[in-house]
Amino acid sequence: MIVAIEGIDGAGKTTQAKRLVRFLRSKGVAAEYTSEPTGSALGRMIKSYLRRGGANPHLLALLFAADRIYHLNKVVNPMLERGQVVVCDRYLYSSYAYQGVMTGSPLWVREINKMAPHPDIAVLLDISVEEALRRKKKRIRFEDPGFLEEVRREYLRLCEAGLMVKVDAGGGVDVVFGELVRVVAPRLGLRPSA
Ligand code: TYD
Repeated sequence: MIVAIEGIDGAGKTTQAKRLVRFLRSKGVAAEYTSEPTGSALGRMIKSYLRRGGANPHLLALLFAADRIYHLNKVVNPMLERGQVVVCDRYLYSSYAYQGVMTGSPLWVREINKMAPHPDIAVLLDISVEEALRRKKKRIRFEDPGFLEEVRREYLRLCEAGLMVKVDAGGGVDVVFGELVRVVAPRLGLRPSA
């Protein structure tokens, strides 16, 4: 199973995804944490483009898709084959949201990502852009609040379309985690308490 944790920058994905892995392991579920963009050469290229800014959005979309193929082949699929639950810190719907908005070609973004299976569970850690910018002490990659608003709206649309489940990530870490577990646990046949 692939459990994807999604949200705009500053939503707390990494903290919650890692905690979810610890929680699942404590319940006897073999779980692994992984994230996109990866640490591969492609991932490093993406990160350097993002740092420098001004990269062509279609080029970035293709790089994210290529890095995803690498990630699936080298990391995710082997984990799935070992019977592990893969908790993925950003996955396919990051491209639907970010690259969809960035390129203005959401259907093309879906097309170039067709090789990636949809996650079994996808959670949107939803937070206002204002709160996200406040939380993020390190330099945020896509600082433009207008852009992040659009990305958030796109994520919310994916929730309305039934692809993702929304969790309010505006509260404290424990509260948000409790909500996350309530969403994920029953789908894995576990009791819904953190
Ligand atoms: P991430 O590693 O989550 O950021 P951080 O280093 O701050 O934890 O992701 C880096 C950026 O890449 C993030 O702003 C979102 C963006 N991104 C996309 O635009 N599309 C994608 O498909 C993915 C996976 C990430």
